[in-house]
Amino acid sequence: MRDATVLDRVELLLAPSGRSGVPPFIVMDVMAAAERIEAGGGHVIHMEVGQPAAAAPRPAIEAAAAALRGGRIDYTSALGIASLRQRIARHYRESYGCSVDADRIVITTGSSGAFILAFLAMFEPGDRVAVTIPGYPPYRHILTALGCEPVLIETSSETRHALSGEALLDVHRKTPLKGVLVGSPANPTGTMMSREALTGLMAAAEGAGIRFISDEIYHGLDYAFPAITAAELSPHALVINSFSKYFCMTGWRVGWMVVPEPLVRPIERLQQNLAISVPTLSQIAAEAAFDGREEMETIKRGYLENRRILIEGLPRAGITKFLPADGAFYLYADVSDFTSDSPTFAKTMLEQAHVAATPGVDFDPVHGRSFIRFSYARSADDMREAVARLARWLKR
Ligand SMILES: Cc1ncc(COP(=O)(O)O)c(C=O)c1O
Repeated sequence: MRDATVLDRVELLLAPSGRSGVPPFIVMDVMAAAERIEAGGGHVIHMEVGQPAAAAPRPAIEAAAAALRGGRIDYTSALGIASLRQRIARHYRESYGCSVDADRIVITTGSSGAFILAFLAMFEPGDRVAVTIPGYPPYRHILTALGCEPVLIETSSETRHALSGEALLDVHRKTPLKGVLVGSPANPTGTMMSREALTGLMAAAEGAGIRFISDEIYHGLDYAFPAITAAELSPHALVINSFSKYFCMTGWRVGWMVVPEPLVRPIERLQQNLAISVPTLSQIAAEAAFDGREEMETIKRGYLENRRILIEGLPRAGITKFLPADGAFYLYADVSDFTSDSPTFAKTMLEQAHVAATPGVDFDPVHGRSFIRFSYARSADDMREAVARLARWLKR
């Protein structure tokens, strides 16, 4: 009896909080399984993780090396290095013809760090925030960990997986929403919102008092038409972006937000307390990365070629149904002709064909069992080899 009490007490001391019980990010589990095959001598084609194969642009690496040789790497101000914030403001002028005050730009630890700051600054525990499915899983998992309620709104291929204003308001009328988060180009679908679709959705959200967050991490990787920034359409939208994808700097962990003016100081206070500042070396490298545009455009042309190889090659392998690959480096394929159990399908594909891809259930708890996400951020040779392996495997 006494022992049980001690055990109970120990259990209580060690029990994780309820809010830490978020689901895993399944793509990381696929990566681990692929690594086990590679450790045994297998050659895996990696199409699971959304990570550029290229290194950071040369000017970024040189700037970081010079800063390291300079010795001290100090904290920066919580909102980020002033010259980087100004360089990002210039990027909005040059790339979108849109004027954004550098004072509204906040440097973050990747866009992942931005989500935490944005959600804390915008929402109270219990607030309902709409996210689309299929969609990037950490949106809903971070909201849950912070005590907010992610409200999943299904999108369909008929609307290129864009959330419409009517669909948002339908949900809001039943139980009010505090916010909505969308991404374009989107992960996992690779689809993009047209100017009309984004304008309509933002107008509907603002009209109903629903705060708008735009994840623009795949901007720069747009093939169907130029991506539109929400910063151009409203000063009330909160925009999140990152150096991880177009700039090829995943491991540097640096991103940014454009925030509505009244949120600058609250976010500054949060950042001061949560992180003090974003890693200085990464901020220095990020500023210089803008000078590597030619390198990044060459890499983008490589993705375009990879996309062509998959769009032409996958149907020959028997995978004929996929969404328009408008942007990012993803192709979201309907594999319902082969399976209604995408986790087992992906596992078998990895074990037998040595092609790693992510089962749709990571992105869509409703229909994801019939979908697989292929990332095409690697080399063209890898893409050709993947198509050949899939053709052999699916026709076996
Ligand atoms: C849609 C989307 N948003 C955000 C992120 C997070 O990226 P990071 O924290 O590296 O900026 C990712 C990463 O894959 C993503 O796909």
